[in-house]
Amino acid sequence: MSSSEQINIQAPKLLCPYCQSPLLPDAKTWLCDGSLNAKGTRHPFDVARQGYVNLLPVQNKKSKDPGDSQQSIDARHRFLSQDFYQPLQQLIARLVNQNSEQSVESFHSPLNTQAWLDVGCGEGYYTSAIAEALAIAEINNPCLIALDISKPAVATTARVAKQNQQLWYQVKEDKSNTKATAIYPMVASASHLPLVDNSLDAISTIFSPILPEEFARVLKSGGRLLIAKPDSGHLQSMREALFDEVRPHDSDKFLEELAPYFKEVATHKISADLVLDRQSLADLLTMTPYSYRARAEKREALLASAERQPFETTARFVVYELVKQKGEA
Ligand SMILES: C[S@@+](CC[C@H](N)C(=O)[O-])C[C@H]1O[C@@H](n2cnc3c(N)ncnc32)[C@H](O)[C@@H]1O
Repeated sequence: MSSSEQINIQAPKLLCPYCQSPLLPDAKTWLCDGSLNAKGTRHPFDVARQGYVNLLPVQNKKSKDPGDSQQSIDARHRFLSQDFYQPLQQLIARLVNQNSEQSVESFHSPLNTQAWLDVGCGEGYYTSAIAEALAIAEINNPCLIALDISKPAVATTARVAKQNQQLWYQVKEDKSNTKATAIYPMVASASHLPLVDNSLDAISTIFSPILPEEFARVLKSGGRLLIAKPDSGHLQSMREALFDEVRPHDSDKFLEELAPYFKEVATHKISADLVLDRQSLADLLTMTPYSYRARAEKREALLASAERQPFETTARFVVYELVKQKGEA
């Protein structure tokens, strides 16, 4: 497939990160239409071999390789693929379906579509569950933007989506398959989303950044926001083994910051009991901030104990469901 005419799926409303002109996705290169560029220049963005597009301009980078490192993504991928966090993944999938049904009803979209953004998608464990949940919901042509500032994260998500024939150019409008979710993996910053105002039905941010104003800008009125966070007591026994003093978890300050734009509609709590061997414990440490905050000897002692006997701890999560207030942003 080489031309955009052949891609009949409903694409998200993308913007060029350089000139803000509409950006048109294609199989090999995404090209902006240059309509907002004084010289009419059309900016091209090549699709990487793995199937993602880099929409992060150098001036929006605060470091050479922003976001999670390859090592952290690999650890997260090994850990999550063993389904230790499956209860949370299933909860998210269930909420996606509920939201999709409500959204279809409330937006009366003539195309019966759904545009979802997973911010800070990481290696894609929850992204693929969202894609699956959207595909079985009562909507046609769902699209899912998998966005992260980390190139290794997006490359991993894209690689899996490509294997599953879920990339935007692999999902053709096919009367028998209008429910397949088209995934658009992109490297971009959550604080400068390359998306048109009021164009999305839903955003998820799972242990990832929360940008109230930017999220309100791109969401439609009545659009949904799902936020997953560690709950109090998350990995308590692991933190007790790592630190002399265990600090309480994040405050709910982010809810105050969201309040001018979003109304909280529900809170869900879920936990998972974990029994971890040394490798899984090491991966969990690598993918959390605890690893570098802990003293090396405490970390090594904990890992050595897991060699003798599997380490037991409990993961606790809280998921907030919010809705964009009418008339905001
Ligand atoms: C804790 S990880 C969560 C990943 C994934 N949602 C999961 O739960 O497996 C946070 C992710 O947010 C990404 N991230 C950090 N700052 C970001 C930003 N400004 N814009 C987009 N992604 C960002 C990181 O690269 C990382 O992949």
